[in-house]
Amino acid sequence: MENRFRQLPPRIEPRYETQDVSGPPPLPEVPETIGLTVAGQVADLDRLAGALARAPRPDPARPVALVDRDGEAVARAAKELAGSIAIQADISDADQVKAAFETTVSQLGRLDVVFNNAAIDGRMARLHELEIEDWRKVAAVNGDGSFMVFKNAIDHFLQAGGGVIVSTASTTALVGKPDGVSAYSYSKGGLISLTRTAAIEYAADNIRVNAVAPTVVLTPMLEQFIADSEDPAATQSMVDHFNPMPGVVVPEEIATVVAFLASDDARRITGVTLPVDAGDTAR
Ligand SMILES: NC(=O)c1ccc[n+]([C@@H]2O[C@H](COP(=O)([O-])OP(=O)(O)OC[C@H]3O[C@@H](n4cnc5c(N)ncnc54)[C@H](O)[C@@H]3O)[C@@H](O)[C@H]2O)c1
Repeated sequence: MENRFRQLPPRIEPRYETQDVSGPPPLPEVPETIGLTVAGQVADLDRLAGALARAPRPDPARPVALVDRDGEAVARAAKELAGSIAIQADISDADQVKAAFETTVSQLGRLDVVFNNAAIDGRMARLHELEIEDWRKVAAVNGDGSFMVFKNAIDHFLQAGGGVIVSTASTTALVGKPDGVSAYSYSKGGLISLTRTAAIEYAADNIRVNAVAPTVVLTPMLEQFIADSEDPAATQSMVDHFNPMPGVVVPEEIATVVAFLASDDARRITGVTLPVDAGDTAR
């Protein structure tokens, strides 16, 4: 019988012999011109994505391209971030993502960090109650969207000589949760795998790929959830004790980790998904 494994292409061997082993080349030397694309929510800069958008810019002179499907919100946010541009794009649409990257590079002149943050929760329900449409909606944004962001970012970085991708995963993809999040956790689990795979595939190309996995974060949605609950004080207490470290995690505490992973301080970190979870996944 024919051995079908013989038909597979040969395994890609590490390029040890030809590789320069002196370490990654330094990141671009003119940080004030580093471009950052934030694929994600910027509707309100106090929300998670907004804080994340702000954090990786220790130098306010850094231009940023803010990308979101909500055009009005992204335009408002761009006004608050000096030197930033707003791009309306749906990351589940391949042409729109490609165009967003082209606009970023043509308007900012360069692009060194891509923050892949846009996502939807989808309908929260137990798995057997979900319809295939519910599942596909989440997969289209969180799955297809991440693929398209990665594809365009890497394509650009290969031409530019390097770059960094940081994505927002979730603790729901690291441990099982009873909250009706199967479609969401499946999509974020895929993103964690994509992060590892891309990190290895482009490790020798000066491209780093990492992710953060936040626990529940104090967003306006959560604040509203607490306020609307039957017993806001009890709900607040439940939220405060959700993780082993008491108190609720706030957007800035995620943002600073994204900023670190995007920075040259993390130049030897690739392929990781770093929980920012006040101990949630350690137990
Ligand atoms: N808030 C939390 O507790 C929490 C916890 C873990 C992980 N996360 C992750 O953090 C990230 C930000 O979440 P958030 O809490 O700020 O949520 P959010 O809903 O406030 O932000 C999501 C943003 O993504 C944008 N978006 C959605 N679909 C899009 C699409 N197809 N194309 C372009 N933009 C699109 C939305 O317009 C919105 O602005 C997400 O990846 C989310 O999964 C959030």
